[in-house]
This record gives sequence, C-alpha cells and structure tokens, in this order.
Amino acid sequence: MLTTEWWRSAVIYQVYPRSFADADGDGLGDLAGITRRLDALSVLGVDAVWLSPFYTSPQNDAGYDVADYCDVDPRFGTLADFDTLMARAHELGLKVIVDLVPNHSSDQHRWFQAAIRAPEGSEERARYIFRDGKGPGGDEAPNNWESVFGGPAWSRITDENGKPGQWYLHLFDSSQPDLNWENPWVREQFKDILRFWLDRGVDGFRVDVAHGMVKAAGMPDYMPPANAGSMGGSAGLDDALASGALDASGMNEAASDRPELPTPPYWAQDGVHEINREWREVLDEYDGDRVLVAEAWVDPPRKLAQWVRPDEMHQAFNFAYLETPWNADAIRRVVDASLDAFSSVGAPSTWVLSNHDVIRHATRLVLNPELNPQGAGIGPNSPEHPDPELGLRRARAASALMLALPGSAYVYQGEELGLPEAIHLPDESRQDPTWFRTDGEKYGRDGCRVPIPWEAEAPAFGFNDTGLSWLPQPEIWSQFARDSQDGVPDSTLELYKRSLALRAEHDLGNGALEWLQGYGSETIAFRNSGVTVIANTGTESVQLPAGDGPGTRIVLQSAGVDGGTLPPDTTVWLV
Ligand code: NOJ
Repeated sequence: MLTTEWWRSAVIYQVYPRSFADADGDGLGDLAGITRRLDALSVLGVDAVWLSPFYTSPQNDAGYDVADYCDVDPRFGTLADFDTLMARAHELGLKVIVDLVPNHSSDQHRWFQAAIRAPEGSEERARYIFRDGKGPGGDEAPNNWESVFGGPAWSRITDENGKPGQWYLHLFDSSQPDLNWENPWVREQFKDILRFWLDRGVDGFRVDVAHGMVKAAGMPDYMPPANAGSMGGSAGLDDALASGALDASGMNEAASDRPELPTPPYWAQDGVHEINREWREVLDEYDGDRVLVAEAWVDPPRKLAQWVRPDEMHQAFNFAYLETPWNADAIRRVVDASLDAFSSVGAPSTWVLSNHDVIRHATRLVLNPELNPQGAGIGPNSPEHPDPELGLRRARAASALMLALPGSAYVYQGEELGLPEAIHLPDESRQDPTWFRTDGEKYGRDGCRVPIPWEAEAPAFGFNDTGLSWLPQPEIWSQFARDSQDGVPDSTLELYKRSLALRAEHDLGNGALEWLQGYGSETIAFRNSGVTVIANTGTESVQLPAGDGPGTRIVLQSAGVDGGTLPPDTTVWLV
C-alpha cells in the first residue's frame, strides 16, 4: 500500500527526557542533551521521537503533573531549547511527538491555585472536580474511588478561614487534580494548548490517560467485580498499576483474551470520543500529517479501536500486546485480535513492549506475572528475581518479532541496548508516587526510568560529564553502553539497527501478515512483504526451512542459529 501517512508504519522512539541525556550535568536529563544525542537515533533508524513531558512542573509524577502547559521547565531548558531540538530533529528527518496531559494538571497550576482560593460554586472551582464530602461535617470522601497510585482518589482542601473545605478528585497523586472536562472553558484551553505546540511545528501528541477525562454522570461508587483486584475494570495501566491486573492473566493467556469487565465509572466513558473529535478537527486545521496517539488502557483491542475511528485519534498504544506473555499461542491471538480490531476502523495496529510505566521487557518476559504483577514493579524484596541472560535473549527475540509486524511500533529508550529493569535501587532514591502512596508495598516504576548508558568509561556512563544521576545507575550498565555495542555484530544495538533497516527496505510497516503453518504450537511463523519471520517461544529447537528457494536465507537472527534449527527464545527473518 502506498501511503504518505508516515505514522501508519512508523517506528517511534520514546525519549524520557529526565533519563536520556543531561547537557548541564545536574543529574536530570534536558532538552539540550536530547538535541546533542539525536544523531544516534537517526543512525538507529527510527522515524520519529516521542518526548515525555518536559513542561513546567513540580515533578511529583516525573512531569505528568503539569503546572504550565505552554512552557518548558527550567530543569529541562527553555522554549528556545525546544525549538533547537525540533529544528535538529526535522533536519535529520525525524518527526517529533510531544505529550499532552489533559486528565489532570499539577496542583501548582495557576488554575488550581485560583480554584482553592475561590469560593465554592465559583467559575474557578468549576474547572476541576470539587464536591462536598459525605457524612457528618462532610468528613467522608464523595465516593469510594481509589487513586491509581494507591489510597483514596479524593483529598480535602482547607479553606482560607482554616476550616476543612470541599474535596477534589485526583485519579492519580493528590498533587494531580482532575480537570472538569464537562466545562467548555477547559475544552477551549486545551485547543489553544494544541495550537501552541502545533504552531511550534510538532508532528503530533501522545495523549496521556486518553480514556479518563470524562467521568460517569453522578460519579457513582465503583463496585469492582470480585475477581478484578482492588480497582479491576476493563482498563489497564491504571488498573494494572493499581491492582496488578496481570495477576489474572496467567502465563499463557493473551491480554486480548481477558473477559470484558464492567467499565469503572471513571474510565472509557462515551464522552471522551467527543473530545477526540474536537481535537482531531484542530489537528486537521494544520498541514502535514499531525497525529494523535491515545494512551488508553482499554481492553480488548476491539473496544480500544473506538479511539481510532476515522474522525478520532490516529493511533492507540497496544497494551494488550505489551501485556501478553512470551507464548506463541497467546501472541498469535493478540496479533490477530489487534489487526482485526484496528483494520476494522481503517487504523494501523501499533506494537509496544516497553515504556516508562512498565517493567522493561528484558526483565518482564521472564517473570511470572502471578508472583510479580506488573503494577507492583520489582525490587530487592520481590518474590522472584529473573535470570538476566534468559531475559535478554527473550527480549531480543521479542523485539525482532515486533519489528517485523505490519503497523507502527514503539521503542522505549534503552531497549535497543537490551537494558533490564534496575531492580536494586536503594529505597531512599525512589521517586515514583506509587512507592510513597503504598508505603513501599509497591516498588512502582523507577526501575525502568534510570538514566541510560552512552559510554562505558565515562562519568554516569556518558549521561552527562559530572557523574550525577537522579537515580543511581547499576554498575553493569557499562556492559550495555551504546559505545560498547556500536559496530559489534552480535550486540542488541546492531540487532535493532539491522531490524529497522530491513523493516524499511521491505516496507514491513505497510505490509500484510500471513500466518505460516507447520512449525509447531510453540512457534510463531508468518510472512510479511516477502520476509518470513519465525520465532521460537518453546523449549525445543525447531527445524528451519531448508533448500535455497525464497524464505530460506537468514537475514536477521536474534541469537545464534546452527545446523538449520532455530533454538528456543530466538527469532529469525528469512528471505
Ligand atoms: C500515564 C503516564 O504514562 C504515567 O507515567 C503517569 O503517571 C500517568 N499517566 C498519570 O499522568
């Protein structure tokens, strides 16, 4: 299929600004650092970069608590630094997507500060979700909703006279009050925010919590189904983070197979689609292919596809794929479910294995989700510690498989180096609100957010030149440093480069998948645009096609292949 819509087949690299590269040496990454290192992403062969938030923010949730949507936090630089980054990226032919965080602002945002100072019933309060408490003296929260990070989803303010006042809703940290999307004023503000960044040349937005902005009328108590954990429901990260939804998905189950549970009254309400459409109209005012990407933890893919209907967003992260274990049957089912669901609305499927919210796949794919549920993170006292060698082997096989699928793929910084989760972070270095709000019961997400290594022998492994790092880098990071992998034929970095080059050469992103039979139930085999892809998820070697016809010559291998057989935890591409 010939298309000019770059996002349909793009490989999009997620830059987590605090941990990518630090030009000013204060231990926290910054925009100037990103600009300096952009060449490495162009060499890697990705098409676009998604920047996690760099906006003004008290950083209570690593920037997903925005205090000014139209400015850069001084810790990350300035708007001029942003313009420089954009210009360099475009010069290199890289598109740039930025994060939009519309469900909540920071409590330090001027809108919220005005709201708590204004009287009940005022215009300022109506921008957020304030309610009177229940019970005598209004001492009880307005309903039973829980924060994704643990604890109640409501906090009470103290009025200027020193008396307890109204309660406000925060589905995440108490410093992240939910905005009131029933209020047209809020809607107009966000259209202006979109235009502000579109005018600066961004190629699109990754929309945070794109399933959360609208709450059910009357905000009724949520009654989770008995088997759905503390928050349950049909919608992922937030549920996965809060309740360890992966508890329920055994080792062999595709995340797309999960039964559709009743939707919690704060996720996936019909009204969000109206917002998607309003934003789509704004993007359509601009030339170029600007895109909206939904971070919507909605199961199953059939339901998620509603976010990418032709007049809504362009893409949605495929978390069902991310949550599927390393098991051939389960992977086949989630791939089929995804391709069916997204193509039914004319959208490309997306694929993702890691991001800043989940255990890195070089660790996750060898964990038993029943012992180590995704939302809990992993740390020194977790019940199970993975085998790092097997983890890396599987991660390489899984990445080689993902990058051969038709559609658009997301790569999280450091996965191209084979980085595992940092498990042994000291308690006092942890910063994820999940850690604090669960009193250390859940480690949370810091382990996937450690600054990445560039140079084996440099201070902070080349993250900066002072050696400072906002989270400590494990010593073994030196083995994963980019400079020690560059040009080394069997390295993970070279595997990614080769996969991306072949993916582009054969235009796999715009291809179509045809399953191949005859390799056994523990093997995934398909053809896409003339490339045969075989991945062995089992424990026995599998015979590869012999002879010298099409589909017999190995052009990519995630691990060594000897004597015409494919060992366990290995993926090959053949032409
Ligand atoms: C999803 C983001 O990816 C995550 O990092 C953040 O904590 C929540 N949304 C709240 O914004």
